[in-house]
Amino acid sequence: MRPTFLMTDPGHFRVAYEINPWMRPGDWSADPAAHDAAARSGWQSLKRALEGAGAEVTVMPGEAGLPDLVFPANAAVVLDGRALVAHFRYPERAGETPHFHRALERLTGIAMVTDIEGVYQEGAGDCIWDANRRLFWVASGPRSSPDSVKVISDFFGQETVHMPLATKAYYHLDTCFCPLSGGEILYYPPALSEVALAALQAHTSADQRIEATDADARAFCVNAVSLGRKLIMARPGAELHDRLSARGYDVIGIDLDPYLLSGGGAFCMTLRLDLVSQPAPAARCLEAAA
Ligand code: ARG
Repeated sequence: MRPTFLMTDPGHFRVAYEINPWMRPGDWSADPAAHDAAARSGWQSLKRALEGAGAEVTVMPGEAGLPDLVFPANAAVVLDGRALVAHFRYPERAGETPHFHRALERLTGIAMVTDIEGVYQEGAGDCIWDANRRLFWVASGPRSSPDSVKVISDFFGQETVHMPLATKAYYHLDTCFCPLSGGEILYYPPALSEVALAALQAHTSADQRIEATDADARAFCVNAVSLGRKLIMARPGAELHDRLSARGYDVIGIDLDPYLLSGGGAFCMTLRLDLVSQPAPAARCLEAAA
């Protein structure tokens, strides 16, 4: 099965409020037309990069008044054809839930779409499937509740590793932590709590840990989509680019500046729909041979 992603048409995206420290509504409103044009072209480049890497992209419509609908990583946690739909912390985003629920039901092949209850949980932004280790890295912090960890492990029946976040700026796990297809983890250490760093240590070898610098993290390069040897991210500096290339990754940098102004990058503009906990035997052989 081809890798499949959900993206949201960016026509209604803008920076209209502040629910994370990166958001600059004033900067946006200083020149909305230029930001809007840049947002549309950055989104197209990201979609093309995913398709160029062999993925299929399903596009759901945007909605006036819900600018952050453009970040479907926050819509749900998806695995094995089941989606657990997010419960957003801030009222500014709460209105997105029914749109994501409907889109997951109607536009994707996902058979079972369930709303999470009783806890805050912001989708794959705070719950990242690690296909190599076959587990979920699950964050609590400014957005998702610690109790979401158990709800996720009960719902999916998979191992979860709790990753409490340490800062306001790196408010979702996907802003500071990214499992790569080869088993490495690209991460920004200051954003992770002691508990999270210890968990990372326990599940990885030293050569699998790739530390991002302050500049890499601020440029939202850790918020990357890893697809085979392709690694798609907001434009990286030369040093990060070279470090990842040296490990065999084909790094594709995209100008996503308007989204950075909202506190988002490549990963959160997508939601992977086809992840499975137990790849078919043929896929496993290919994995082993790679
Ligand atoms: N403005 C959005 C928010 O603060 C950005 C979300 C980015 N998503 C992510 N998974 N990091 O909610």
